[in-house]
Amino acid sequence: MAILKIARMGHPVLLQQAEHIPDPTLPELRRLVRDMAETMLDAGGIGLAAPQVHLPLRLFIWRNGEQVAALFNPVLTPLGEELETAWEGCLSIPGLRGAVTRPRRITFTGLDAEGEPVEGEAEGIAARVMQHETDHLNGLLYPMRMTDFTRFGFVEELARTQEQKR
Ligand code: NI
Repeated sequence: MAILKIARMGHPVLLQQAEHIPDPTLPELRRLVRDMAETMLDAGGIGLAAPQVHLPLRLFIWRNGEQVAALFNPVLTPLGEELETAWEGCLSIPGLRGAVTRPRRITFTGLDAEGEPVEGEAEGIAARVMQHETDHLNGLLYPMRMTDFTRFGFVEELARTQEQKR
């Protein structure tokens, strides 16, 4: 296991279109998922996409309760019309938070770490994390989704003015 270096906004890998992964069960990908999990937990994140550790591959992990789950080649589809605005942060943009509007519910498909097809529905924070991480696979960072830059700032300042609400 190893803690990997996280790319920060400005690194070109974060702007790339990540590549499809034909076989999630390759040993080097299993090791990558373990290392990404260790990296995410060390950094206090709730999600991490492979491009954030300098690998432009279609893979992300996220905290699913006590577990860390991995999704390869995710395809997300909004479910319904409902949108929700909430604060987001990103390990590639340390110290900042911004309010981002996204679909509240989604369906997702992809492959799990065993290479088995998975599909499901998610809403609220889980749907938000999955959308944020899938954006990383398409070269998008959350500020690119923002429309109201009055709700963008440093965590410490936002906490001071009590503006950080869900
Ligand atoms: Ni992020």
